[in-house]
Amino acid sequence: MLRAMAIRKIAQLGHPVLRQRAREVGPGEISALGPLLRDMLETMRDAGGVGLAAPQIHESLRLVVVEVDESDRYPGLGGVPLAVLVNPVVTPLVEVGPHGPAEADSIWVYEGCLSVSGLRGRVRRPRKVRVEALDATGAPLRLEWEGFPAAVIQHEVDHLDGILFVDRADSKTLAFLPEFGRYVAGAIRVVDGAEPA
Ligand code: NI
Repeated sequence: MLRAMAIRKIAQLGHPVLRQRAREVGPGEISALGPLLRDMLETMRDAGGVGLAAPQIHESLRLVVVEVDESDRYPGLGGVPLAVLVNPVVTPLVEVGPHGPAEADSIWVYEGCLSVSGLRGRVRRPRKVRVEALDATGAPLRLEWEGFPAAVIQHEVDHLDGILFVDRADSKTLAFLPEFGRYVAGAIRVVDGAEPA
């Protein structure tokens, strides 16, 4: 049967689906995920995102796709080939104290989100993580990501727990896109391993 891919509507800030804890995908469900995963990819690429979590298209399941093109949008940050992650679990590979990781173990990214249109804000996260998940065939995956890709995967897995980047951002850094473009220098948009000036 021919099935066209579909670009789905993306849930926006305030929609309750973004605040729910998404449920685990059961082992018997993985083989039927193909169409949904293809929709997630198509929707992410159409919207120009580097990651998408299933709740963002109103499917409250623990599914994430990430694809960082080492394009002009994020030059020099390291790309990530397409990763399709079922039931992903992220574990920091640096020590995280009550006030977060040490400066040298942190990455600060002005994050955006397809579900929070038009806004950016700076979030501090551990700069190196392990990701354990199943792939689209149900085979176990174990990856280690550091730097910008580590920030991307943490952002996406947060979605599965109903957490948005605005919850973690330093509120004084929040900026709409035109102002972000005008006033936030390129050099401080991603700072890996030292407190931004
Ligand atoms: Ni997001």
